Amino acid sequence: MKKVYLVGGGPGDPELITVKGMKLIQSADVIVYDRLVGRKLLAYAKPGAELIYVGKQAGRHTFTQEEINRLLIEKAKEGKLVVRLKGGDPFVFGRGGEEAIALRRHGIAVEVVPGVSSAIAVPALAGIPITHRGIASSVVLVTGHLAEKKEERLDYASLKGDTIVILMGVKNLPKIIEEFKKSRPPSTPVAIIEKGTLEEQRVITGTLEDIIERAQEAKLTPPAITVIGEVVRLREEIM
Ligand SMILES: C[S@@+](CC[C@H](N)C(=O)[O-])C[C@H]1O[C@@H](n2cnc3c(N)ncnc32)[C@H](O)[C@@H]1O
Repeated sequence: MKKVYLVGGGPGDPELITVKGMKLIQSADVIVYDRLVGRKLLAYAKPGAELIYVGKQAGRHTFTQEEINRLLIEKAKEGKLVVRLKGGDPFVFGRGGEEAIALRRHGIAVEVVPGVSSAIAVPALAGIPITHRGIASSVVLVTGHLAEKKEERLDYASLKGDTIVILMGVKNLPKIIEEFKKSRPPSTPVAIIEKGTLEEQRVITGTLEDIIERAQEAKLTPPAITVIGEVVRLREEIM
């Protein structure tokens, strides 16, 4: 049985994949891929490779995590070279760990091929370094996907990083920004980067006080990353 490769596809721009990731795409028998994987990457698959989309799709059945795990196990057991292609890095809010554990439990070897995470690359390409000497020496990467039960929700106000990077936060942004306002000055700079690294990229900037209004005016849609902290000001000098 061959290994299953959990490959990070990078943040969107198809050129931002690793050399190792690209070589695996070119040699895979089966590629199981998500919504945020740059479609242009799939053009590098070999002729006859099976390309299986497991991301969300309006009006159609969406694969559960268990079904994805089962699919990977089944294809690996058929002796195929399986690439599980994910957006960004497989282990950054990508459920890559869950898939690796499920495969290992079935005696299937797994290799992780890290990817360029959107958490770092999307701010970078918008001119925002998430750390900067004298300004930010710590970063917190956080999900904006609120837990169903209120008591299990993250306490955003208590997070201590100099820079906060929020993924998956578009829907809940108003609630999350309200939380940050409890512990940070209203003048704290904020940037939201929509469809980062792609041609359609948009950057909305403001402060904790006015960013929600600006995001609503701009009709922000996912995927987007929100950066909170003084590093956002550097964009003016860097871009
Ligand atoms: C399920 S998480 C996966 C993150 C991925 N594993 C990574 O390392 O980039 C999806 C979230 O990543 C962020 N994201 C991914 N690609 C993005 C892009 N090109 N522009 C803006 N945000 C992006 C968004 O916050 C999106 O909701």
